[in-house]
Amino acid sequence: MAVGEKITVSVIKADIGGWPGHSSVHPALMEKAKEILAAAKEEGILTDFYVTHCGDDLQLVMTHKKGVDSSEIHGLAWKAFEEGTKVAKELGLYGAGQDLLKDAFSGNIRGMGPGIAEMEITLRKSEPIVTFHMDKTEPGAFNLPIFRMFADPFNTAGLVIDPNMHMGFRFEVWDILEHKRVFLSTPEELYDLLALIGAKSRYVIKRVFPKEGHKIDKNEPVAVISTEKLYQIAGEYVGKDDPVAIVRAQSGLPALGEVLEPFAFPHLVSGWMRGSHNGPIMPVPLRHSNPTRFDGPPRVVALGWQINSEGKLIGPVDLFDDPAFEWARQKALEIADYMRRHGPFEPHRLPLEDMEYTTLPHVLEKLKDRFKSVE
Ligand code: F6R
Ligand code: MG
Ligand code: MG
Repeated sequence: MAVGEKITVSVIKADIGGWPGHSSVHPALMEKAKEILAAAKEEGILTDFYVTHCGDDLQLVMTHKKGVDSSEIHGLAWKAFEEGTKVAKELGLYGAGQDLLKDAFSGNIRGMGPGIAEMEITLRKSEPIVTFHMDKTEPGAFNLPIFRMFADPFNTAGLVIDPNMHMGFRFEVWDILEHKRVFLSTPEELYDLLALIGAKSRYVIKRVFPKEGHKIDKNEPVAVISTEKLYQIAGEYVGKDDPVAIVRAQSGLPALGEVLEPFAFPHLVSGWMRGSHNGPIMPVPLRHSNPTRFDGPPRVVALGWQINSEGKLIGPVDLFDDPAFEWARQKALEIADYMRRHGPFEPHRLPLEDMEYTTLPHVLEKLKDRFKSVE
């Protein structure tokens, strides 16, 4: 393997049991996953891997040469989650196996519960990437920061002053209700893009691509976000679809600091308590990724890596473990307080159609005979 060869980066995550409640992952689950991935690396299936967690989600970061949607890689992740679930059950962890919605693996992990972000890339001379891991929120939480990184000149100076990225980028946006997708180019279609992705519970950015004329091939993604919607898959609420993303950086792409800059503003996302509240997303180091207050506030962790010419993951650097994000954390806490004081009222509590728990049908049923027409 060398520069110019293809490598696939896969981040696959699942909540297979919380410790305690929905807050964190027990180290024994991570140990089990490491054991399974280490054996796969030994066999040559994986080039490299790293096991971590964000809140109650077990996170597998892997490099390999099998391409995206590989049944071998997905099967491996599924095995790690299944074996981890056994450990979670032994330990009596909370919601053991929560995100494993199907009994048997059938070739592709998509639609089975876990979240997946994968990209096959041609290794550049130097390949800096950031993996983002969020807890207590949904894929649409990435819309604003990914937009800022790749399309907002007030965030990314390179869009204005680097000739290698001045032409802009192409966004692949999914309508997760209708299961359709559309490609939009920036800066030309900036307003159309915003018209869609501002509705973040429905339209989500799935990938970003370079345009014709960029140093990177226009068919090779430079960012990818997991877009699984657990409650849709299962038809009822089974847990929040906490998302992950992979972003490539530097040299004609947003610089590392431009990739991180959007998180200096703790924007409001859906999720938090019972997947039914709006709250600020707080950028935190890994050791602070365990949601506590009101099961939150929602968290985001950023791990920095260099992929070397052999496809090895050199890292991670815990990028939000930095006083530069202290103000964002303070602001997030201030906003959390402000939002919390609304209690069960919107817009802290989500509108009915976006809630993942609702007793409203029961309340309406109980009251149905007492509702009278208003003349
Ligand atoms: C949100 C989340 C938690 C749970 C809450 C209630 O994504 O995971 O906020 O929804 O702790 O959990 P249960 O219903 O399992 O008691
Ligand atoms: Mg959980
Ligand atoms: Mg979670």
